[in-house]
Amino acid sequence: MTERLSTGVKGLDSMIEGGIPKGFFVALTGEPGTGKTILCLHFTDEGLKSGDGCIYVTTEESRESILNQADQFGLRLREELGKRLILIDALMGEGEWSLRHLELDELIEKVVEAKKVLGYGRARLVIDSMSAFWLDRPAMARRYSYYVKKVLSKWDLTILATSQYAISTSEAFGWGVEHIADGIIRFRRRVVNGMLKRFVIVEKMRQTNHDLFMHEIEIRPNQGLRVLGPIGLRREDERQFRR
Ligand SMILES: Nc1ncnc2c1ncn2[C@@H]1O[C@H](COP(=O)(O)OP(=O)(O)OP(=O)(O)O)[C@@H](O)[C@H]1O
Ligand SMILES: [Mg+2]
Repeated sequence: MTERLSTGVKGLDSMIEGGIPKGFFVALTGEPGTGKTILCLHFTDEGLKSGDGCIYVTTEESRESILNQADQFGLRLREELGKRLILIDALMGEGEWSLRHLELDELIEKVVEAKKVLGYGRARLVIDSMSAFWLDRPAMARRYSYYVKKVLSKWDLTILATSQYAISTSEAFGWGVEHIADGIIRFRRRVVNGMLKRFVIVEKMRQTNHDLFMHEIEIRPNQGLRVLGPIGLRREDERQFRR
């Protein structure tokens, strides 16, 4: 039977037969503010709880910003920092666990170094975001993702990598990650009756009989991300997403 890693969000786990298959490279895509980073925090917290080593690479926010956000949801990243959690700051970090340049080779080198420090055994890796590595070379997205997946596949890592969507077109920024990834969890947002609503759909999960519905999610203080339930069963829901 496939070994699966819980995402830390029960409602999402039940959409993917209990969790992400071990060793997968899963892309989290979606517009700004839709919950990608917050899911990464849950995934990390869950890993720490179950004794996995965790490596978290942040390119969009500082180390402190990530820790503060985790604190707000009662996720225990801060107390595991430097123990079972290594947080690599690629934005403005200094010191050992930071990247000087947003270069893939440097990223891979640091991740491998971190994995060696954590030791043998199952580990989780978050790269938030992968898009940062092809900022000025969007056409390289596929090749870069392939490279990361191939090189890191030897290290017993299960990987979540976020990828941003262009706001104007809702097209993935950089193309091709979706084909390389073993899974795609897609976040979306809509203003419905004057209110911002957020949704998640599993667009792909290899080796998994995954849920096919779009689900509404909510993000709450102290709780974080929660899946509320499927939409699309009602006509007005369906109309919102038809283009
Ligand atoms: N303490 C909190 N309580 C309730 N909601 C919160 C709290 N903190 C953050 N949020 C919500 O979460 C959103 C941020 O979600 P998240 O950081 O996961 O977005 P993202 O998909 O990673 O976006 P980006 O692509 O810009 O990085 C905020 O805009 C806010 O709506
Ligand atoms: Mg984010």
